[in-house]
Amino acid sequence: MTPRLAVGVLASGRGSNLQALLDACGTPSYPARIVVVISDREHAPALDLARAAHIEALWINPKDFADRESFSLALVRELQARKVGLVCQAGFMRILSAGYVQAFAGRALNIHPSLLPAFPGLHPQRQALDHGVRVSGATVHFVEEGVDSGPIVLQESVPVEPGDTEATLSARILVAEHRLYPEAVRLFAEGRLEIVGRRVRIKESR
Ligand code: GRF
Repeated sequence: MTPRLAVGVLASGRGSNLQALLDACGTPSYPARIVVVISDREHAPALDLARAAHIEALWINPKDFADRESFSLALVRELQARKVGLVCQAGFMRILSAGYVQAFAGRALNIHPSLLPAFPGLHPQRQALDHGVRVSGATVHFVEEGVDSGPIVLQESVPVEPGDTEATLSARILVAEHRLYPEAVRLFAEGRLEIVGRRVRIKESR
């Protein structure tokens, strides 16, 4: 049996995507396992979810560091110390430095609740409603230096209904997110993702 891929998760808030990953990791034959969950917020519910799953939960306080670079490099040190082969940003609300992006180039994923490249940044569901789009969705992409940019791994669309509010649209997108992220991590762990320029090629399973 091949060893399961060690994954580190970065999360600032509720942690529903973390929970989706934890649930996937709990199924037999899933090729990844979460070894640490790191948050920039001491009381992030995501840390409680990690503890409940008996996974190391680590708070790294940004205020302990002079700048973004040193905070980001502290994260890198903690992830590397645990021999993490993939980092999943799951609602992590801080922009990380170039040093982090380089340390995990091609080995860091993010999930965003829009069909990128539409509506990067904050409040993507509100942006979608403001623009009157008829479909939105979720995207899993590799992390690069730009905000919510980087080669796209998987996307799933959801309809935008006429009566939608930010809350109802977010909830519909979240259901898609919870399918997409575990699937993207599976593909990565199976060695089936190849970055070609700004695109991701998904190799057939063997
Ligand atoms: C999700 O919508 C994710 O796409 C975005 O932040 C939200 C985090 O939700 N980046 P949760 O903490 O995973 O529940």
